[in-house]
Amino acid sequence: MKNNLLKKVLSIAVCLSLIGMVGCSGDTNVDPDSDSASNSQNVSSDTEQTEATQTTTTTTTTTTEKSDESSSSSSEKSTSSTSKTTDPNAKKYIALTFDDGPYSPVTNRILDTLEKHGAKATFFVVGDRVAQYATSLKRASDLGCEIGSHTYSHKNLNRLSVSEMSNEMSKSVDAISRVTGKGVAIMRPPEGAANDTVKNNVGFPLIMWSVDSLDWKNRNMQMNYNNVVDDVFDGSIILMHDLYPATADAVERIVPDLIAKGYVFVTVSELMRIRGVALESGVKYSSAKP
Ligand code: NI
Repeated sequence: MKNNLLKKVLSIAVCLSLIGMVGCSGDTNVDPDSDSASNSQNVSSDTEQTEATQTTTTTTTTTTEKSDESSSSSSEKSTSSTSKTTDPNAKKYIALTFDDGPYSPVTNRILDTLEKHGAKATFFVVGDRVAQYATSLKRASDLGCEIGSHTYSHKNLNRLSVSEMSNEMSKSVDAISRVTGKGVAIMRPPEGAANDTVKNNVGFPLIMWSVDSLDWKNRNMQMNYNNVVDDVFDGSIILMHDLYPATADAVERIVPDLIAKGYVFVTVSELMRIRGVALESGVKYSSAKP
């Protein structure tokens, strides 16, 4: 008996260390982002880690701010009639969002999946990547996907002057509009960073998220899939990045599986319209529940 127990303990230990190794090797994978010079690889990775680390804080902040707003002002930012939830025929709407692209090898695979299933998503693109991957961006826009700004060069806006921030925003909007022929209505701040100065001057609604795939960290199809499918809810905004092949792998399963569960994939602006939320500049939004 003791021998058997010892064997079991040993095999669990081996499994755990294997899982650890896989996780580590995943983290050291070279970023496929062709824009990044090799010397910026670690910086980019660190930035993303900061972004994800802040997720919890950001979400909490958003909730707090919303309750402050609803108690101090008469305008409702996110709530609407709760009677809809009792309607068994009411559809469930979600917004899949992708940051940090475009990156054609991954963006196109995601678009293939969306097109196949008649689903739409929102891409928060980095302006200085747009010219290189213009074809993918145009395709996304033509398919009815929404294109939002993720600034021009992925800067943390909290660290910029107001004029530097305005420059980041206007350059990114110009780059997007030149390709899509459409305006830009929403933005997502890099690292989720948006202090009061940013909110007061950015000039766009700030779209945060309520479901985090952690795809930048996991680089693993099954983990990405579970993080989304386990946490999704009606009105959620889901955060992913169209830089990693494992993200496209997960999207191939997430989209049909959630459609089968009654979810409809819409853009962020569509989700807000459906839920009667009027987007306002400088206000953070992380979901739009019924
Ligand atoms: Ni980003």
